[in-house]
Amino acid sequence: MNDITNNNNQRLHVRYLNVHEYQGADIMRKFGVRVPDSIACKTLDEVQKASEQMKCLGDDEVVVKSQILAGGRGLGTFKNGFKGGVHIVKNELARETAAKMLGNVLVTKQSGPEGKPVNALLVARKMKFAKEMYFAILLDRKSAKPMIIASAEGGTSIEDLAESNPEKIIKKYIDVNDKNGGIKREDALDLAEKLGCADKEDAAKQFQALYETFKKTDCTMIEVNPMAETTDGVLYAADAKLNLTITRNTGKKISFRNETLLKRTREKSKRRNTI
Ligand SMILES: Nc1ncnc2c1ncn2[C@@H]1O[C@H](COP(=O)(O)OP(=O)(O)O)[C@@H](O)[C@H]1O
Ligand SMILES: [Mg+2]
Repeated sequence: MNDITNNNNQRLHVRYLNVHEYQGADIMRKFGVRVPDSIACKTLDEVQKASEQMKCLGDDEVVVKSQILAGGRGLGTFKNGFKGGVHIVKNELARETAAKMLGNVLVTKQSGPEGKPVNALLVARKMKFAKEMYFAILLDRKSAKPMIIASAEGGTSIEDLAESNPEKIIKKYIDVNDKNGGIKREDALDLAEKLGCADKEDAAKQFQALYETFKKTDCTMIEVNPMAETTDGVLYAADAKLNLTITRNTGKKISFRNETLLKRTREKSKRRNTI
C-alpha cells in the first residue's frame, strides 16, 4: 500500500494488484480480447465437470493450468515431484492430473525456491496453436508512457530472448494524448505485419482491445505470453498476466490520464501487493 496525493490534494491509498490468469482472462474478455474458453476450478469435481463440458463441445483434450501468481508454470515442478504446472491431457485424464496439482506447491523460475501453493486450476479449451508470439503493454517508468513490447517469438521468457536476440524485440510507445486515445490503427497494423499475423486487421483490433483493457483498468502491465495463432489463423491471448492499480479510499480507479498522479505512482511503484 502506498499513500499518494492527487491533483485535487486528496490522499489516495494505492495498491498494485497482480491477478490470477483466470481473473486476468475474464477482464480481457470484457474488453473484447479473444481468450480461449476456460473454467476456473477449486475442486477435483469441478475439474471433471469442466472437462466433460469441453468433451461435449467436441474436444478430445483440455489444458489444465495451475493458478499461481508467478510465471514459468509450464516448466515448473511440484514439490511432490510432479513435473509441469500446465498440462495438455485427454479429457478423461483431467481429474487424475488435477489431483497431482491441486493443493500442492509449484516451484517455477519466478516463484522462488519455496514455490507457491496451487489452490485453483484453470481448465481451458485446447487450441491448435501454430505460432506463439509475445505481447505486452507496460508503463515505461522513464517516460511515464505506455509502451508495447512484442515479438514474433513468444512462449518462453522475454528476458532470455532480450539477451540472446535483442533485435527480435519490437517496442512501440503509445501516445496517450492522441485524439483517439489508443493505439493508432496504422501502428497496430504495422505491429501485426511485423509479427507476421495471418489476419492483420483482426490482430490490429486485438491489440487495440488489449490497450483498452490496460487503460480502463489502470494496469501498470499486461503481458500475454503467448499471444498465439491457431492453424487456421485466429489469434488468442493464451496466457494473462495483469497488474492493476486500485485506490482504496474511494474504491474508484485512478484516472489513467492524470499525468502527475501517474508520475508519482511510478516513483512509488516499487513495492507491489498481491492478492
Ligand atoms: N488453451 C491452450 N491451448 C493450447 N495450448 C495452450 C493453451 N494454454 C497454454 N498453452 C500452452 O502451454 C504453454 C504454457 O502455458 P502458459 O499459460 O503460457 O503458462 P506459463 O507461461 O506460466 O508457462 C503455452 O506456451 C502454450 O504453448
Ligand atoms: Mg505464459
